[in-house]
Amino acid sequence: MDMPHTTIGILGSGQLGRMLVIAAAQLGIKTHIFAPDANSSPAGEMATNATTAAYDDYAALDQFAASVDVITSEFENVPSETMAHLAQFRPVSPGTTALHIAQHRVREKNFAREHGILTPDFWHVRDAASLHQAMAELQGRGVLKTCQLGYDGKGQIWIDPSDDLDASFAALGSDDAILEAAVDFAAEASFLVARTADGRIAHFPASLNTHKNGILARSVAPAPISENLVTSGQEAGQRLAEAMALVGVLALETFVTTDGKLLFNEIAPRPHNSFHWTIEGCATSQFTQLARCLAGMALGSTHSYGQWQMDNLLGEDMPGLEQLVAEPGLHLHLYGKASAKTGRKMGHTNRLITA
Ligand SMILES: Nc1ncnc2c1ncn2[C@@H]1O[C@H](COP(=O)(O)OP(=O)(O)OP(=O)(O)O)[C@@H](O)[C@H]1O
Ligand SMILES: [Mg+2]
Repeated sequence: MDMPHTTIGILGSGQLGRMLVIAAAQLGIKTHIFAPDANSSPAGEMATNATTAAYDDYAALDQFAASVDVITSEFENVPSETMAHLAQFRPVSPGTTALHIAQHRVREKNFAREHGILTPDFWHVRDAASLHQAMAELQGRGVLKTCQLGYDGKGQIWIDPSDDLDASFAALGSDDAILEAAVDFAAEASFLVARTADGRIAHFPASLNTHKNGILARSVAPAPISENLVTSGQEAGQRLAEAMALVGVLALETFVTTDGKLLFNEIAPRPHNSFHWTIEGCATSQFTQLARCLAGMALGSTHSYGQWQMDNLLGEDMPGLEQLVAEPGLHLHLYGKASAKTGRKMGHTNRLITA
């Protein structure tokens, strides 16, 4: 084959973009970051090129498209008009269909159900009256979330039947919300599938995830869950990726219920925090796999070397950095963010826990 000479255009400037840039560079692939804060951002400072412009700056978008071969987004909340515009000029991943579905919590859950995947009970909530109605049907604890733009547990309010529902609805501040039944889960598992333009598929081993304050804290992988659960999660991920004609990687977050069922939580059509362990833990990391997909290269092996533990480093964890640096065999990843705010993802560590 020819040597890869692709340039990948990336919308967004965060750590996922940064790790994609690093993986691409190892393959001789160039990268171009486009974001309102591209310069001196985690991704922008590593990329071959960076354009600082707004996502609705069409002149800048046109120049960007002309300078790259293929375009991806490192976050799923890029305006769909931006992606649709770019798709006129270059292949885009995720495509506009995948983005449209993944950007809305009701749409993605309906899509999952249409493809035979179980979800928690949910209601589309547009006003206080529909919240009253939904809570009457739920008859238990629920979680009210904005349908769009939520991340790291932001835009979510837990609701008990005895709560003042009008006040809860007002506090959320959105007329496009979802009420979900609170799942009493035994565990949370995530799945990641890569799909090439010609439909080839590679599954990563599953991750088992623990959240703290709505933010992912730890992943252990390959997940110590039954073979049946792994198979059903992988099949669900593949079905959704194929139905969306996704090119790239698709993450699926699920709940494992106490009676051993897998329930869909959400999808993300991009690399996922719970698969950062693949950087040292897999023959091909999630970032390398995405770079390969985008550059039209064959997919790499997703064989994992032993069992791994990934821990996120948030702003408040940074005082412990010196101790982490001294730990033999610890794989430390820092994203180069300037200020360490509480709850902000500053980096992560990967540890081999069983060889
Ligand atoms: N219906 C539910 N029942 C029980 N726990 C829930 C439910 N919805 C969310 N959670 C908990 O909150 C976490 C974050 O929720 P969710 O994935 O919907 O939010 P998010 O803001 O998209 O988060 P992230 O960016 O971390 O994926 C879940 O991983 C889970 O631990
Ligand atoms: Mg989530």
